[in-house]
Amino acid sequence: MSTPSATLVIGATGTTGRRVAAGLVAERHRVKAASRRAAPVQGAQAVRFDWNEPVTHREALDGVDRVYLIPPIGDPDPAAVMLPFLRQARAAGVRRAVLLSSSAIPAGGPAVGQVHQALPDLFEQWAVLRPSWFMQNFTGSTPHARSIREDGAILTASGHGRVGFVDAEDIAAVAVRALIDEQAPNADLILTGPQALSYDEVAAIIAEVTGRPVLHRHLTFEQLRDRWAAEIPLEFATMLAAMDRAIADGAEDRTSDRVQRLTGRPPGTLRAFVEREVSRSR
Ligand SMILES: NC(=O)c1ccc[n+]([C@@H]2O[C@H](COP(=O)([O-])OP(=O)(O)OC[C@H]3O[C@@H](n4cnc5c(N)ncnc54)[C@H](OP(=O)(O)O)[C@@H]3O)[C@@H](O)[C@H]2O)c1
Repeated sequence: MSTPSATLVIGATGTTGRRVAAGLVAERHRVKAASRRAAPVQGAQAVRFDWNEPVTHREALDGVDRVYLIPPIGDPDPAAVMLPFLRQARAAGVRRAVLLSSSAIPAGGPAVGQVHQALPDLFEQWAVLRPSWFMQNFTGSTPHARSIREDGAILTASGHGRVGFVDAEDIAAVAVRALIDEQAPNADLILTGPQALSYDEVAAIIAEVTGRPVLHRHLTFEQLRDRWAAEIPLEFATMLAAMDRAIADGAEDRTSDRVQRLTGRPPGTLRAFVEREVSRSR
């Protein structure tokens, strides 16, 4: 049996998980990088882990005293698989858990909100990260990135509502502090960037920095739902369209100081993010 001192990073190949794993490695912490493919992550020990295969859980937890938790993606009831795993983790010696949730989901809310609510009773040390929308939603193979590339447009039903877009680098930096700082508070952390922006403003920034025309096309709730429903189940499509409607109603129009307070540096702006992405692609 190895010494219990590693952090298990679930979703270690994903948008936040790979940055959390890299941040922990940079701080010279032992990392077990978990994903279904056990893909290698530099400086970390890769382990195969599938939420839906409990047989993979025991080995993943061996020698671990902290966990970074990404819920099973797309599962409407993640508590069903996560809570038994978390009880097993506690019995195996895990004392600190950091859960990635969302600004849109409060403790006790749907899906991961149920896991959030249970966390303080399971672990002495815990944090729930509740980021607003990721800046990374405008890059790679995401729907916004595709429509920007193919049509020069961002399509939403969020009207003129604003969102405190946050850089996944900042989410990961907070996660690292929450995982390793002995004084890190047990907390529910809303994470945003420095400004709340409408999609009209986002489109203008992307157009300005990339030098290519980008517009925000305003859809109705029904138009967006039906667009999504061509690709994903209607229930999920309706939920995504409803999230845009909530943005239109002002639900995400806020900023928080948590990134600055936990990491000691201000969160990155959307403009700086787009500039970084543009220079990376050159
Ligand atoms: N995008 C946003 O704007 C936003 C905003 C707030 C909150 N969130 C939340 O962020 C979460 C996604 O986090 P992320 O962006 O860091 O991840 P991500 O980029 O979506 O990647 C998911 C990670 O989980 C792993 N994974 C997928 N299914 C798995 C399974 N059944 N068992 C074990 N591992 C599995 C994937 O690796 P393998 O495929 O190799 O297993 C990958 O490493 C979601 O819960 C979402 O609600 C997103």
